[in-house]
Amino acid sequence: MTAATVLAAVREFSKSKMGDDETGHGFDHIQRVVGLADRLIQSYPEADRVETVTAAYLHDVIDEKLVTDTAAASAEVTQFLTAQGFSTTQITTIFLIMDNMSYHKTLDGTAKPLPLEGQIVQDADRLDAIGAIGISRAIYFGGHFGEKIYDPAVKPRTAMTHAEYRNLDNETIINHFYEKLLTLKDLMNTAAAKQLAEHRQQVMLDFLAEYKAEWNAEA
Ligand code: ADP
Ligand code: NI
Repeated sequence: MTAATVLAAVREFSKSKMGDDETGHGFDHIQRVVGLADRLIQSYPEADRVETVTAAYLHDVIDEKLVTDTAAASAEVTQFLTAQGFSTTQITTIFLIMDNMSYHKTLDGTAKPLPLEGQIVQDADRLDAIGAIGISRAIYFGGHFGEKIYDPAVKPRTAMTHAEYRNLDNETIINHFYEKLLTLKDLMNTAAAKQLAEHRQQVMLDFLAEYKAEWNAEA
């Protein structure tokens, strides 16, 4: 099978799993992450493109937010990749990436170091959490989970654990920018992603400044 045939099958598998998500992790997010990973990889020709793009397509398929039984979801992904002719080594690498790229793993300090392919996918995923798309995803996610948009009396939390990060009781959408989204620029692994993050960061800073000016009837 050619790389193009394999990646087309991976795309269809991902699409069948991601289609119905309502938390901002739908297939449109997956397609943007794949597009960004493919763009970043141009600066790193030593990275394996099939592993990178496959991990980008599958990275949310076994996520705790989207499936209740992550073991069953993982087994299904392994079975699918094996049927597509992926080697055991490739499957191990793809799972290493998917299991360790998530933001909450970073919070707990339990994440294993990512290979270059994983660093690229993690950067692509983080780029899609910031900028104009990031603003819209945060608002969509916050609405879905009943967060307030803004409350000046609720201060952003610092140094959150994984459990605190997932506790949305006192969370506001605007605080999520200070707690996470504005920090992502400096967490990018690759120089290529850092460069793309600069503009997206400014878009968020401009949005927050405008939002607060309008809130205070100053704009
Ligand atoms: P990861 O998949 O890296 O663990 P998350 O699933 O926590 O990251 O975040 C994915 C998307 O959901 C991001 O775009 C993020 O902004 C949004 N999101 C996560 N938590 C919140 C929150 N408390 N309020 C608003 N948006 C959120
Ligand atoms: Ni993602």
